[in-house]
Amino acid sequence: MTSVWDEFYQNTSFGSPCVHYQWIIHLFANRPRILDVGCGNGRNTLPLIPIASEIVAIDSSKIAIEQYRGRLGGASNVTLIHADALTLFDLHLGSFDLVLCHGLLHLLPRGSQHSFVRLIQGLTGHRGVNVVVAIDQCDPAPASSLTASYSRIPFSEVEIEYQRWECLFHDRTVFEPTVFLPNRRSTHRSIWRKL
Ligand SMILES: C[S@@+](CC[C@H](N)C(=O)[O-])C[C@H]1O[C@@H](n2cnc3c(N)ncnc32)[C@H](O)[C@@H]1O
Repeated sequence: MTSVWDEFYQNTSFGSPCVHYQWIIHLFANRPRILDVGCGNGRNTLPLIPIASEIVAIDSSKIAIEQYRGRLGGASNVTLIHADALTLFDLHLGSFDLVLCHGLLHLLPRGSQHSFVRLIQGLTGHRGVNVVVAIDQCDPAPASSLTASYSRIPFSEVEIEYQRWECLFHDRTVFEPTVFLPNRRSTHRSIWRKL
């Protein structure tokens, strides 16, 4: 079945990687093992391939995974999985140094967001890092078919789950409307280290 995200990737793309990933590599003494949940077609983890020991990238859009695969070149340290993020626990993926959850949390059902954060925390090793980027609840109601299912989560709720972690970075960026996000909205971005 074609999802709204399959249609999205057939017609457009997110473009450049998020700037945070240019310095995040300096947080690790050794080559990190990276999990990218809701990876899309790979813009955030493709640039990390040379510095990663392994990247595991998961998305529920088959088209996104196919496009990511098509952009891999000869890289042999990337495992792509077409799966629902909520099944992560059943995949027995082991432990990661860095977990990216960029743009996914607000797409998960409202009742599952906190347990999902705890799930990725459980997949993070000692001194490991989580990146959480999500659309904030303070924004106006969403309007397009792509955003109809959004269950936005405020930063304060994410923060509750990271009380025992070190916050390395946090900001909130307000966006002007775009074609696929027609309402003005904001995104909160945070980086946490497990103590
Ligand atoms: C806003 S996009 C972000 C993609 C990518 N992280 C990036 O920054 O370019 C959200 C992604 O989450 C994926 N997605 C939505 N619900 C999902 C779920 N339940 N499990 C896994 N992936 C999901 C979509 O297919 C889409 O690729």
